[in-house]
Amino acid sequence: MKSMDPQTLTELLDVSVLDRLDRIEDLPADELARSSALRKEGYSAEVTAALLTQAQLRKDAVKKLGPFAEDMLFTRDGLAQATRLPVAAHHARRLLGEGKDTGGNTNTAGGQDTDAEAADSAPTIADLGCGIGADSFAFAGMGAQVTAVDADEVTAAIASFNLRHLANASIEHARAEDIDTSAFDALWFDPARRTVGKGTTSGSTARIFDPEDFSPSLSWVIDKALAAKAAGIKLGPALDHSLIPDEAEAQWVSHLGEVVEVCLYFGEARQRPGRSALVMGERTLLVHEDDLPTDDEDGVGEPGQYLLEPDGAIVRAGLVTALCGPLQARRVHPKIAYLTTDVEPSGPASAGVTAYEVTDVLPAKIPSLRKSLISRGIGSVVIKKRGADIVPDQVRRQLKLPAGDKATLVFTRLGDRHVVLLTQPC
Ligand SMILES: C[S@@+](CC[C@H](N)C(=O)[O-])C[C@H]1O[C@@H](n2cnc3c(N)ncnc32)[C@H](O)[C@@H]1O
Repeated sequence: MKSMDPQTLTELLDVSVLDRLDRIEDLPADELARSSALRKEGYSAEVTAALLTQAQLRKDAVKKLGPFAEDMLFTRDGLAQATRLPVAAHHARRLLGEGKDTGGNTNTAGGQDTDAEAADSAPTIADLGCGIGADSFAFAGMGAQVTAVDADEVTAAIASFNLRHLANASIEHARAEDIDTSAFDALWFDPARRTVGKGTTSGSTARIFDPEDFSPSLSWVIDKALAAKAAGIKLGPALDHSLIPDEAEAQWVSHLGEVVEVCLYFGEARQRPGRSALVMGERTLLVHEDDLPTDDEDGVGEPGQYLLEPDGAIVRAGLVTALCGPLQARRVHPKIAYLTTDVEPSGPASAGVTAYEVTDVLPAKIPSLRKSLISRGIGSVVIKKRGADIVPDQVRRQLKLPAGDKATLVFTRLGDRHVVLLTQPC
C-alpha cells in the first residue's frame, strides 16, 4: 500500500477534513459505502483514501496508545515502529531520573510555577528520530522540554500534529546528525531499523540486520550517548550482546507478554551497569544480572511437577537462571530456556514465568506419541517447543487426533533425551 505524500497530508491537515475524520463513524461501516459517501461529499480520491486509512490506523493504534490514538495521525510504518505508551512512560522515567518529580505537563494547571518558570527549569530532551512522536509524547507529558527531530518530512509533520497540545514539545524536520546534541540534558535515540519503501517516505519495508545501516548508525548513536549527560537507545530485542558497550545498562523489556525492545541506558539514565529484564504487565518484575546465582551455574535437574516458561525479556537478557532461586526451580537443560519445579510458582518472581502443570512425560516419536495421547483422551493440542527441531503445525497434522480433551504439549529435551511434556496451563 502506498503511503501518504506531503500534498495529501497538507490537505488532510485542513480543519474541515480533520473534523470529517473525527466524525467518520457517522458513515456506514462498509469500506466501499464509506468511500463513495466521502466522494459524494466532494473529497478527492486521495483525501478519501487518506481519511479511510487514518480511521483504520487510529483503531489499530489504540492497543499501543490507548484513547490518545483517537486524536492522532499516523503513517503505517510510524505506527508499527511507535513505542507503546506505558513503555514510553518508562523511558521518560529513566531519562528524567526515576521518582524525580518534574511537575508534570507544563500545560496542566495546579502547580505554583508559571508555565514560563516551569519551562525554564524543565530538563531538556532531544528525541532524535521521533517517528510519529510516541516517546516524545511521554517525555513532554511528564514535564520535559522536548525537541523532537525526524528526517522524514511527512513523519515530522505528523509528529507536530500529535504533539500539538504539549506546549513543551517542539518538532524539527532535520537529520539527527545535524543537531547540536551538547545542548540537551538527555538524548533519546530510536534508530530506524527498517528500509524506507521505494518511492515513498514510508512504503513497504524490510528489516535491516547490520547495525551500521540503522539510521542513524549504531556506532554514531553510541558515540553521542557516551558523551551525553544522560541517554537512552531503543533497539530490537534480538541485538547481539557483543554490541553492548561496557558503559551501558542494557534492559530488555516485555509488555503484556511480548518482548518489545532492548534499551541501552547511559550516564545518569543508567541505574545499574549490566543486563536487566523488565517484565511489564498486570504485574511488574525487574530481574538483573546481579541476581544470577554464583554457585551452581546451570542448575539443571529432573523434571518436577511444573514446567515454567520464562518471559521472553528474561530469556533475551540471558537471565533465566536468576529465577531458579526465587522459584525453587532448576533448568531442564543447560541450553534450553525452560525451568522446572515441584512448587507452584508464587511471589513476585512468578510474574516472570508462565506455569504449566506436567501430567506426563511422553515419547517424542509421532506414532507412539499419538497412541499415548489417544489413550489419555487428548484430542486438541497447543504445541510449544524449545530445543526440538519440529514444526508445530506439521506435528498437529501428523498426529491427526480424534476429538477429545485439550492439552499443551511441550517438545523439549531432558538432558540428552528428546521428550514431550504433557501439560495443562496453571
Ligand atoms: C523507529 S522510528 C521512531 C519511533 C518513535 N520512537 C516512536 O515511538 O514513535 C525511527 C524514526 O527515525 C527517523 N530517522 C531515520 N533516520 C534519521 C536520521 N538520520 N535523523 C533523524 N531521523 C531519522 C525515521 O524517519 C523514523 O521516523
